Amino acid sequence: MKILIIGRGAREHCLAWKCSQSKLVSDIFVAKGNHAINKVATIVDIEETDIQGLLQFALMEKIDLTVVGTETPLELGIADLFVAKGLNIFAPSKNAAKIESSKDFAKKMMKECGIQSADYRTFTDFEEAKNHITNQGVPIVIKNDGLAAGKGVIVAKNLEDAYHAIDIFLNKNIFGEKKVVIEEYLEGEEFTLMCLVHKDRFVALPFSQDHKRAYDNDLGPNTGGMGAYCDMPQMDCYDESIEKVIKPIIHKLSLEGIPFTGFLYAGLMMTKNGIRVIEFNARFGDPECEVILPVLNIDLVETILTLMDESKEFTSHRITAISKCMGVVIASKGYPEKPVIGNEILFPKDDNILVFHAGTCFKERSFVSTGGRVVVIVSIGEDLKIVRNKVYNYIDSMKLSDQFFYRKDIGSRALQFLNNQ
Ligand code: AMP
Ligand code: GLY
Repeated sequence: MKILIIGRGAREHCLAWKCSQSKLVSDIFVAKGNHAINKVATIVDIEETDIQGLLQFALMEKIDLTVVGTETPLELGIADLFVAKGLNIFAPSKNAAKIESSKDFAKKMMKECGIQSADYRTFTDFEEAKNHITNQGVPIVIKNDGLAAGKGVIVAKNLEDAYHAIDIFLNKNIFGEKKVVIEEYLEGEEFTLMCLVHKDRFVALPFSQDHKRAYDNDLGPNTGGMGAYCDMPQMDCYDESIEKVIKPIIHKLSLEGIPFTGFLYAGLMMTKNGIRVIEFNARFGDPECEVILPVLNIDLVETILTLMDESKEFTSHRITAISKCMGVVIASKGYPEKPVIGNEILFPKDDNILVFHAGTCFKERSFVSTGGRVVVIVSIGEDLKIVRNKVYNYIDSMKLSDQFFYRKDIGSRALQFLNNQ
C-alpha cells in the first residue's frame, strides 16, 4: 500500500515512522515533510495548503490512504476534495473540522449535547465584549473564533490584558476573523484524550499530558507544546472521559450530518467540579503524538483501515500503552515570539532515544534549526523516572548552545504523584 502523510513537523515524522513499521505498507510519502523524515519516507515538495496539488499527486501515485497531520488543509476542505475523487483519506470534512476551526461552533455543539465546558458567550462587537468583561471581572479567557496557530487564546489575569485581547481579535482583526468566545476561567490539571474516529466508531488512545507554557513551572507564554508524556498515573477518569466527552461529541456530529473521521483530540481539565472540555482539535496533538505512537503495540495503518471499513462490524475499544514514554521539545531561543533560527544541532548516537524533527533542515554536514520547535527527544521504558532520566541525559550529551532551550520539568506532576504513593 502507498501512504501519503500531510504535514512537516515532528508529529508527521512520528506518523511516518510508525507507518513504516506497518506490514501493509510499501511506500510512504510526506508532503511537505522535512529532511529528517527522508529516512523513513519520501519527501514530496508540495505545500500543505495546496490541496489541489496534493490531490493530483495522490491520483497520480495511486495513494491508498492519506493521513492528515496538520490543521490548515482540513479547514481548506482536503477531505471533501479527496472523498469526492474516491480517495481514501483519514481526516474530517471541512464541516466536521469546525470542531477545531471555530471555537463558537465547538461550544455550541458541546452545549447542545450536554458536554461540560466553561460557560461562555460569543461576541462580534467590541463594546459589547468589553461590557461583558467588565461585568464578569478577571481572570477570564478570550478566544479568537478561528484557527490562530496557537496564538488565539488569552488567559487574562487583569482587565487591561482582557481589553487588549478583544482589541486585537475584534478591532485589529489580526486573524481575519471578527468573532471571539469569552469564557469562564477554569482551574485544574489539564490532560489529553485522543481517539481515532470514524462516524460513531472509535479507538481510544491512552491519556497524555502536554506542557503548553514555554518555561518551567508552567510560566511564560503559551506554545504549541514543550513536552509530553504517556500514560498519566495520576488521572483516574478514563472511562468517564469516554462516556461524558468522546461518545456524545462524535454522536452529535453524526446527528448534525457531519460525521467525524480522523484523529479527534479532546483537551480536558479535571476541575473540582469534574471533567471539563477546554478544546477539541480535529487532528493528532503535537507533541502528544510523539509520546503515544511509540508505546502502541498496533499496526497503525491496519487499525485505521479496519476502523474505516464499514462493510465489517466494529466494536469501539481502547488501546493501552505497552510502556511509559516521554518527549522533551528542544526549542529555538526566543520561541514562541521570535525564534532565532539557523543554528547547528547535533545528535549523538543512542539506541535508546528517538528524535523526531520539527523545525530542522540538513545543511552541508549537519542539521540546523529552521523553526521555533526544533526536535522532540523521546524515550520509552517501564518506569517513567528512568525514561525521564534517559531523555535528559541524552539532552545533556547534545551539548546544546545557548541558541536553544527546553523545559526541565516535563513529567513532574506524574513523578510527584508516584513519589507520594
Ligand atoms: P486552547 O487553545 O483552547 O487549548 O487554550 C490554550 C490554553 O489556554 C489551554 O491549554 C489552557 O491552559 C488555557 N485555557 C483555555 N481555556 C481555558 C479556560 N476556560 N480556563 C482556564 N484556562 C484555559
Ligand atoms: N499539543 C497541543 C496541540 O497539538 O494542539
